[in-house]
Amino acid sequence: MTLPRHTLGIVGTGTMGCGLAQAAAQAGYTVVFQNRREASVEQAVKKIRQGLERLVAKEKLTKVECEETMERIRPVVPLEELKACERIVECLPEDLELKRELLQRIDAIAGDESIIATNTSSLSVTKLASYLRRPAHFVGLHFFNPVPLMRLVEVVRGMRTSDSTVAAVRGLAESMGKVPVEVKDSPGFVVNRVLFPMINEAAFALQQGVATPDSIDECMKLGCNHPLGPLALADLVGLDVVFAILDSLYREYGESRYAPCLEIKKRVEAGWLGRKSGRGFYNYEA
Ligand SMILES: NC(=O)c1ccc[n+]([C@@H]2O[C@H](COP(=O)([O-])OP(=O)(O)OC[C@H]3O[C@@H](n4cnc5c(N)ncnc54)[C@H](O)[C@@H]3O)[C@@H](O)[C@H]2O)c1
Repeated sequence: MTLPRHTLGIVGTGTMGCGLAQAAAQAGYTVVFQNRREASVEQAVKKIRQGLERLVAKEKLTKVECEETMERIRPVVPLEELKACERIVECLPEDLELKRELLQRIDAIAGDESIIATNTSSLSVTKLASYLRRPAHFVGLHFFNPVPLMRLVEVVRGMRTSDSTVAAVRGLAESMGKVPVEVKDSPGFVVNRVLFPMINEAAFALQQGVATPDSIDECMKLGCNHPLGPLALADLVGLDVVFAILDSLYREYGESRYAPCLEIKKRVEAGWLGRKSGRGFYNYEA
């Protein structure tokens, strides 16, 4: 049985918003794609088109499929345009106050049966739900970057999330070809809780002179079959983001094993944020 394709609202048109809009539209969803700035939403739509055109050039998508996908994405500016969306996913910056304000506005606009999800990586879904009038209809949907390629979605059940909400978003993820895995609402969920201490440990190994960055990454690639070594991965994620996630795990759990290594902190202070700034554990300037 094919599930009905609800209209999906996406708030925020940055890295995750774009990826999710593309993946959902490719899966047949009508997407209401919202940003408070017209220029930002236009730029995001352009970025999605460029990505799809690259797929056409590689013959992974037909021209017709590309056009049909783009037609399903409706860029909008007023938040009120989300009124008709049965499912809404916020992809706003990782800032509790900002998410709280926007989620309350979305909650006031959305229909009583609609489900609102957050793509937060580290904030408490239970706490965000407490700001809303229908906490049972609120859930965490943690997609991974790049969304069109990454299959996992962590479905984060807040303390007041209902079974029917969890079932509905599992269906949404599956209909996009993703694998939903239900996890408890706890800091870092599963992936970040396991992954970031590994990156931190690699930084400690570097600090203690166990091996060079290249050698540490080589060991983890060849010894554990990881496609990318932990230090190269940290540079890709952004060392500021790595620092923020570790720091948040450290504060939330109060356990020293999560405390960010100085090899990460000092680089952030120096403005060496990884690939995006040209230097991190590796030098990309050359
Ligand atoms: N980037 C990742 O790899 C990744 C992976 C999984 C989850 N996440 C989570 O997804 C969410 C979004 O992350 P992202 O990387 O897409 O962020 P981003 O910075 O790329 O995008 C944020 C979007 O929010 C908009 N925005 C910024 N300030 C705003 C405001 N005051 N009011 C309304 N809109 C505003 C921006 O215009 C932008 O479109 C975060 O919660 C993040 O933790 C990110």
